[in-house]
Amino acid sequence: MMYDVNKIRADFPILSRQVNNRPLVYLDNGASAQKPKVVIDAVEQAYSMEYANVHRGLHYLSNLATDKYEAVRGTIARFLNAPSEDNIIFNSGTTEGINMVAYGWAMPRMQAGDQIVLSIMEHHANIVPWHFLRERMGVELVWVDVDANGDLDPQRVLDAITDKTRLVAVTHMSNVLGTVVDVKTIVQGARTKGVPTLVDGSQASVHMPVDLSDIDPDFYAITGHKLYGPSGSGAIYVKSERMAEMQPFLGGGDMIKDVHREHISYNSGPMRFEAGTPGIVQQIGLGVALDYMMNVGMDAIAAHEQVLRDYARSKLDGLNWLNVQGNSATKGAIFSFTLEGAAHAHDISTVLDKKGVAVRAGHHCAQPLMEHMGVPATCRASFGMYNTIEEVDALVDGLEFCRELFG
Ligand SMILES: Cc1ncc(COP(=O)(O)O)c(C=O)c1O
Repeated sequence: MMYDVNKIRADFPILSRQVNNRPLVYLDNGASAQKPKVVIDAVEQAYSMEYANVHRGLHYLSNLATDKYEAVRGTIARFLNAPSEDNIIFNSGTTEGINMVAYGWAMPRMQAGDQIVLSIMEHHANIVPWHFLRERMGVELVWVDVDANGDLDPQRVLDAITDKTRLVAVTHMSNVLGTVVDVKTIVQGARTKGVPTLVDGSQASVHMPVDLSDIDPDFYAITGHKLYGPSGSGAIYVKSERMAEMQPFLGGGDMIKDVHREHISYNSGPMRFEAGTPGIVQQIGLGVALDYMMNVGMDAIAAHEQVLRDYARSKLDGLNWLNVQGNSATKGAIFSFTLEGAAHAHDISTVLDKKGVAVRAGHHCAQPLMEHMGVPATCRASFGMYNTIEEVDALVDGLEFCRELFG
């Protein structure tokens, strides 16, 4: 079936609005994606007609909300082709997921001198929790660089593993360069050396089919707001063996079975790691967003974005005054660039915004990568399932205008 991008665009109400008297060209999907009407409607329906707390009530609405909320576990497992929904822990997004692993799994099992291997292109969400372990426990962070194209050689990651390595934590797709990492080779190679892996799937899960039964990582984090779902929704996949080793990170209601003066006992399965009233409606909205993506088809979305990537790459490569960072053959439709000469990334994004083109400027929560590339900041145009060839042209027109403006 033909990929009908206009039909998809019609599902996203915000895409028909204007910004600064120009049609909105939304190229900040790497930061957060827009929401289809089905998600917005599901959120409204959940609040207006179906709302109550989950797991608590013996009344109709509570049971209804619980059923809808719990069904999302299965949807996420299906979306990621995870072995079971029992491996899916709900949370507010990748940041919470990785912190949970750092506090609940890594901290109790690591000691001073132990090592965690990271790539230089991780998002701060997959850096700062490990820095906590460095600061508080003397754990060492071992960094693996990317090459000039922005590629991460899996062998270099595996070569960085020593008998002190306790975890390899890598992104599946860079939020700055768009590089897709061969995480399966890393996961398998690390496992033969007895080292578990955490994969940050925040970007990859949006842009391509993810098969966790094939990759088989120990941890895989996703974040709902990038997946066309509500902010504050998300999940982490945890392999059963790791889940059995992991201690609860947050304590409170829902994650316990019994609480007494002298002892407590925990709930079983993923709920053991889900303390307090969760993002009920957010998760329900995420389930609808994932169904929406699966209905369009992850292969079809990936193919559409590859067309955008190839077109954008050829257009941007033609601008010899633009420095596009990273040129990996595996790259997705995410472009980071600086303009030769003086214009700061923020100036470019401000000018583009006046043209209705929304991009992001800054370090993109990836400062070690910025240091590695020798730039303080870049401008980033990141595409999603609803973007068009014409929007690539709008970006290029806007950049040419910047070039004239800033010389
Ligand atoms: C690769 C990557 N990891 C982690 C995150 C953090 O996600 P969240 O802020 O939703 O927790 C992001 C979001 O920008 C990201 O792009």
